[in-house]
Amino acid sequence: MPSPDKILRSNSKSIEICGQHLREDQLVAVPTETVYGLAGNALSESAVRKIFEVKGRPFIDPLITHFKDAQSAFKHVYACEKAIKLANTFWPGPLTLVLQKSDSIPDLVTAGLSTAAVRVPNHPLLQELLRKLDFPLAAPSANPFGYVSPTRPEHVSKTLGSKIAAILDGGFCSHGLESTVIEFHQAHNPRILRPGPISAEEIKNRTGLIIHTQERDGHDNLPQTSPGLLSKHYSPHTPIDIIENGQVDWVASEDEAIILNKKPDTLDSDHVYWLSENGDLGEIARNLFDLIQKLDGRAYRKLTVEAAQNESVGSAINDRLRRAAR
Ligand code: TXA
Ligand code: MG
Repeated sequence: MPSPDKILRSNSKSIEICGQHLREDQLVAVPTETVYGLAGNALSESAVRKIFEVKGRPFIDPLITHFKDAQSAFKHVYACEKAIKLANTFWPGPLTLVLQKSDSIPDLVTAGLSTAAVRVPNHPLLQELLRKLDFPLAAPSANPFGYVSPTRPEHVSKTLGSKIAAILDGGFCSHGLESTVIEFHQAHNPRILRPGPISAEEIKNRTGLIIHTQERDGHDNLPQTSPGLLSKHYSPHTPIDIIENGQVDWVASEDEAIILNKKPDTLDSDHVYWLSENGDLGEIARNLFDLIQKLDGRAYRKLTVEAAQNESVGSAINDRLRRAAR
């Protein structure tokens, strides 16, 4: 049941109310620069348990813990030199680091793994909230398990609204794709577990570090690889087909939506949509989950989506499309 009354406008009173809910082990949906998160006190087993239950997420799939700054994060995980360099360069921002954890982070948060995923988000409202709390926030994306991540408060209210205490309205998420996840299981050999807004190219350009992307191995049931990276994920109810660049069949039928990267020169169907006026990859990423959720509410038989150019954030867009299409 949608419960729009749970959406709290962005002001200091709302932040106070959300802080109070979180201190009482309740869950609050919070805005981040990537997607909305379903947040609870990361140091409270009872709050963390609720996150898994509300989301319908299996307990083998570990959560990201969000901190107000790097100094706070590095009290709970052991950071190597490369991780510190990445944190200094990209935090606050859409980067999650998976590092050896200390006992202070409950095993429930990390699904029993010896590593924890940590991140310092870059959204002013969430930063203000984190500064008012004396604990970090565990937060997966605020969608039912397996569904598309929310990039607007209304997406959360439609799906999880009746099950949580409040939704903090931070507007439309600026990146629209979940954070880049980098694992330091072997400190000398970090790997990108989940491509995201910060690409391997950008990491190389800004830090000189060369970090490879973990090949997808298809072993969905192996917790050590990356439990949350189940190959089917981010799926709307309407089936998705991916079309490689330039291969889009223009003759859209009535019951099929075509989603293009950029606005076409000529338009001959009401069922053609586009993610960006001029094909800008950042804009495509920002609009992707929003448009998919909007069209998922209509009676289309199929959504046919054009793949993005496979460079920078385009790789992350295509990663999400492939998972949604399975
Ligand atoms: O942008 C984001 O990262 C958003 C916002 C809310 O911060 N959060 C998010 O959380 O996408 P979630 O739970 O939907 O995805 C977390 C990913 C999963 O793929 C999970 O398996 C991985 O991080 N992860 C968490 N802890 C891990 C660990 N210890 N080892 C390997 N992967 C881990
Ligand atoms: Mg998620």
